[in-house]
Amino acid sequence: MSAFPPDFLSIDDVDGDQLLVLLDLADELKADRAARVASNSSLVRRQLRGRTVAMIFEKPSTRTRVSFQVGVTELGGHPLALSSSELQLGRGETVADTGAVLSRYVHGLVVRTFAQARLDELADGATVPVINALTDEEHPCQALADLQTVRQVFGSFDGRTLTYVGDGNNVAHSLLLAGAKVGLSVRVAHPEGYAPDAAVLARAQQLAAGTGAEASATTDVIAAVTGADVVYTDVWASMGQEGEAEARLRAFEPYRVTPELFAHTAGGAVFLHCLPAHRGEEVSAEVIDGPASQVFDQAENRLHAQKALLSSLLR
Ligand code: CP
Ligand code: NVA
Repeated sequence: MSAFPPDFLSIDDVDGDQLLVLLDLADELKADRAARVASNSSLVRRQLRGRTVAMIFEKPSTRTRVSFQVGVTELGGHPLALSSSELQLGRGETVADTGAVLSRYVHGLVVRTFAQARLDELADGATVPVINALTDEEHPCQALADLQTVRQVFGSFDGRTLTYVGDGNNVAHSLLLAGAKVGLSVRVAHPEGYAPDAAVLARAQQLAAGTGAEASATTDVIAAVTGADVVYTDVWASMGQEGEAEARLRAFEPYRVTPELFAHTAGGAVFLHCLPAHRGEEVSAEVIDGPASQVFDQAENRLHAQKALLSSLLR
């Protein structure tokens, strides 16, 4: 296996073998944590002892912020959560200077921002590992936890299909690429005009050709869900798209994951959602709160997957 990359800016920064190594480690960390909880022993390991990880959030976050904060602590390190409005970033300091300066104090940077180009610029200035905690284009930490969840439910990716229903957004992009790398077929069912980025889809198709998986996008939601093992959805208006919310409500209405739509899946199919969810919009309450839903295990896996990532990247 080749060495881990210096940064994790895109799920495409790691290859399929590296992804599987991360998933194995995430499973180990999950089991180890459960054993420590059961025996009432300390949850703190030593991989990040004496290390500080700064987290910059330019958008809100519940799961990512808390799971990274707890994850760094459980690896023996010190997390430092910063909101961009408290930094000089909010007063026009460049992201490259911010990355360079923070690198003199901390050992890793976790960054949630808008354009991927902004993250790339910060990583160019930084001399410590930079992790993408969500951009407009990608959400690779989410995809790691999603793969861990799918593999935990089905035992392997072989012959499995995940159908993502909704906006061809950051979450869809990282899922397309991640699935293609490990041999999980990913179909995106989206309204007209909300397809995933063509370059991302083409890259996923190129990767999928190597693993025997499918990577596709269609407006035919019933065909896409038919026979799927996983149905996945996300909000219709992502952070930063609040002004489009009303128009999107109309466009996405036929793409709600309802019990009727879910009934087209294969037997034993599960429902996933990166959360936060809007019941009655992208998903019916009966589905997300029903027996097929694995959304809270999925959310928990953010912690384990990111601990695996931190301990592999920060050395
Ligand atoms: N799924 C996810 O990234 O959630 P947060 O926005 O709460 O971090
Ligand atoms: N697509 C969503 C994901 C939130 C975790 C957004 O970017 O807001």
